[in-house]
Amino acid sequence: MFNLESIVRPNVLRMKPYASARDEFKGNANVFLDANENNLGSLAGENYNRYPDPHQHKLKTTIAEIKGVKPSQIFLGNGSDEAIDLLLRAFCTPGIDALLCLPPTYGMYEVSANLNDVRIDTVQLTPEFQIPVGEVVQSIKPETKLLFICSPNNPTGNSINPESIETLLDNFEGIVVVDEAYIDFATAPSWTTRLEDYPNLVVLQTFSKAWGMAGLRLGMAFGSKQLIAILDKIKPPYNVNEATQELVLQALDKTEVLKDMVEEIVQERELLMSALPQLKVVESVYPSDANFILVKVTDATGLYNYLLDKGIVVRNRSSLKGCEGCLRISVGTLEENQELLKAIAEFKI
Ligand SMILES: Cc1ncc(COP(=O)(O)O)c(C=O)c1O
Repeated sequence: MFNLESIVRPNVLRMKPYASARDEFKGNANVFLDANENNLGSLAGENYNRYPDPHQHKLKTTIAEIKGVKPSQIFLGNGSDEAIDLLLRAFCTPGIDALLCLPPTYGMYEVSANLNDVRIDTVQLTPEFQIPVGEVVQSIKPETKLLFICSPNNPTGNSINPESIETLLDNFEGIVVVDEAYIDFATAPSWTTRLEDYPNLVVLQTFSKAWGMAGLRLGMAFGSKQLIAILDKIKPPYNVNEATQELVLQALDKTEVLKDMVEEIVQERELLMSALPQLKVVESVYPSDANFILVKVTDATGLYNYLLDKGIVVRNRSSLKGCEGCLRISVGTLEENQELLKAIAEFKI
């Protein structure tokens, strides 16, 4: 049986969170002399002389409506990278506990674990980039507190079979983190629809991909109210700045634009998927539910450097185990994709 309190780090359970100046009074006021701000104004204009809402009330209320969850089930961070780091800090005692992840996958799980001195155990995905469930279950140790599953997976692009995720949610007494950074480009439902069934589930999403707001740094973690309260307790009080809160709130009104952009990106992805295999240097193109494609080529580093010379930057993933010979290519605009295809066609093997 999953028991949240039993896996939270004892020091995190014990500690009191920082109480911000604005948390300490109730009622209305119009003279704020409590936070050592500059009351004359801001050189950045607007009301940026004031600290932002540490609880991000407005944003959470609107995101909750869009995502079909309660505001108390949402954590907002400085990118989902912040949520990854805080999950490690909340649940893994340095030098004792461990994180389990399934490479080839997103590199920040390992970077954050290293930073926090948390052991990383790994189980390689199958050649089809699916989870070898039995092997994963066997690799779970008493000190394994977090299991990271990325779906659609970066850098492979495929979605992970939901049955595998369900089996792991049923069989792991730690926390299963499903990283859905690319979910808007996929057709499968989000795991946020299963939060009520699984108290050990955390779903990560981000405004950096489909929403086109990577520069604003806003990531989301969804989980039970109790689990989200733990992340909120340990986050830096003002982790989401005022400009981001305002701009994202405005963008949340434009879900029609989001839908159109996602449609266009998916259409461009499918065009690339059918054009790439016709090029000589391309050996195979992996299925993608994301806004990028993993492509196996005959000379990954040669092609990578050649494209760089032409001013086209892709990601060389050929040194990653399981991705030998592969480049990861983001879907660009129609013109950019045509330029890429033309350049690859002219590459001399
Ligand atoms: C799978 C995955 N998770 C999380 C992130 C981080 O996103 P954010 O910009 O919200 O920190 C990325 C960014 O590339 C990603 O690929």
